[in-house]
Amino acid sequence: MTIAIAERHSLSLRLKTETSAQHERMHNLMEGGQPFASRENYVRYVVAQYFFQRDIEHLFANPQVQAAVPDFDVRGRQEASRADLDDLGATLPQDDFIASAGVTMPEALGWVYVSEGSTLGAAFLLKEAQARLDLSPDFGARNLAAYPEGRAAVWRRFVAALDGEAITPEEHDAVVAGAHAAYNRFGALLQHYFQIS
Ligand code: HEM
Repeated sequence: MTIAIAERHSLSLRLKTETSAQHERMHNLMEGGQPFASRENYVRYVVAQYFFQRDIEHLFANPQVQAAVPDFDVRGRQEASRADLDDLGATLPQDDFIASAGVTMPEALGWVYVSEGSTLGAAFLLKEAQARLDLSPDFGARNLAAYPEGRAAVWRRFVAALDGEAITPEEHDAVVAGAHAAYNRFGALLQHYFQIS
């Protein structure tokens, strides 16, 4: 009897393990960009975040994505990022490119995974923004703030949806591919706005 190993792993576990090098790369890019060395550097980070979040919220307009993502309406930090830029007196560069245009289910879930997962790491980034740049969830660091309900509960609900039966094993590869595409997009934005390679 043969058992397909991949099917014995949950989708969330696959996402975590198969994109761990991408996550590591985000750390390296953040290290390169030094977003907490100055408010000027931090603005570059928030601009990248804004464009990434705009890509994510573009997906939330799709009813199939809405059906797959619990509380999709509380997720997404596009407006928070824009408000942060306003707080900091920064102007958003003109850029109409939506990298997620044409992305549908199930790939879209991989994009949302990357964005939602980044809310966990944001707890650490928020501490740095507070300590080093004197920002807060009400001023300049709204995009790093926890959900009113707390980061963990909202994350767990998303993971439960990933691992639920609505997503079939045949769809898992596409979700993982979507997560890679999202990491690539955020990486490209960080490189561009930090002006690093
Ligand atoms: C230097 C910046 C970052 C730090 C310090 C950081 C830190 C962390 C930490 C500690 C966790 C695990 C939290 C937990 O399991 O409770 C986490 C998870 C995660 N982070 Fe980051 N992160 C950073 C940047 C990013 C970025 C830029 C992205 C994507 C745009 C990202 C995407 C994710 C994802 C998807 C997860 C969930 C992993 C899983 O499946 O469990 N992170 N991060």
